[in-house]
Amino acid sequence: MTDYYCVFGNPVKHSRSPLIHAEFAHQTQQTIEYTAQEAPIDGFAGAWQAFIEAGGRGANVTVPFKGDAFALCDTLSHRAARAGAVNTLMVGGNGRTYGDTTDGIGLVRDLAYHRVALAGKRILVVGAGGAVRGILEPLLAEQPSGVVVVNRTAAKAEQLARDFADLGSITGGSFDTVNGTFDVVINGTSASLSGDLPPLPDALFNTHAWAYDMMYGAESTVFLQWAGPRGAKLLDGLGMLVEQAAESFFLWRNVRPDTTFVREMLRQQLR
Ligand code: ATR
Repeated sequence: MTDYYCVFGNPVKHSRSPLIHAEFAHQTQQTIEYTAQEAPIDGFAGAWQAFIEAGGRGANVTVPFKGDAFALCDTLSHRAARAGAVNTLMVGGNGRTYGDTTDGIGLVRDLAYHRVALAGKRILVVGAGGAVRGILEPLLAEQPSGVVVVNRTAAKAEQLARDFADLGSITGGSFDTVNGTFDVVINGTSASLSGDLPPLPDALFNTHAWAYDMMYGAESTVFLQWAGPRGAKLLDGLGMLVEQAAESFFLWRNVRPDTTFVREMLRQQLR
């Protein structure tokens, strides 16, 4: 019997999730069908309800519905409750909706895949929106020596630092509070989309440091283009996309797909 899944977004037609999950299903011999569903901007809850009434078992949720998905869940994972966002929905046996977020674990797994050490390292996170809130718990769980969050709107970075202070060493502030050098610098702003670059100091990277952009694309992002000549090794968010999908697939199917092939397939498509 076929089990039905989808990704909800708006717009969603460029989503790579159907391709990724079809490959995972093929590889693990799971009989599923996974489609892209455009939900109306103000009608996410109705779209999810209609999907489960038609036999849907679970869904991924992307921009702009992660907050709406969070709001409709009957039960939330601990990490989704912290993140205030849900990217993975599933229907329980009792018909109740369970929500989780796999974005943060996707980032941490991608860094591990590339052998980027986090334990004992100094990490700078640029941005303080929903995407950043979703990665802080898994990042702090890796026990870096410290996480600094900076944002155009400093108050949001300061708030995040307060919200996650019980999980490790984390401070927040404006761009001009950036001080010293870092082992890993993660861009979690959407500034790249508009071609903008957050104003960061030139001497930002330690020797052997990594610059990570949570966005991905054929062209390296504005942030990575800036970071390369300043000595950092570069990673875009393609691996994070694949790893968050793998974690969702695992939650639904209880089998862990191998991500290497899918990473290579997507990278080739982007060339
Ligand atoms: P997301 O879900 O992608 O995190 P968001 O919650 O709207 O979306 O957050 C967008 C992030 O990108 C914020 O940190 C935002 O900074 P502000 O909080 O000051 O708005 C940041 N951002 C967007 N455009 C930016 C730009 N041109 N320069 C610097 N930061 C920018």
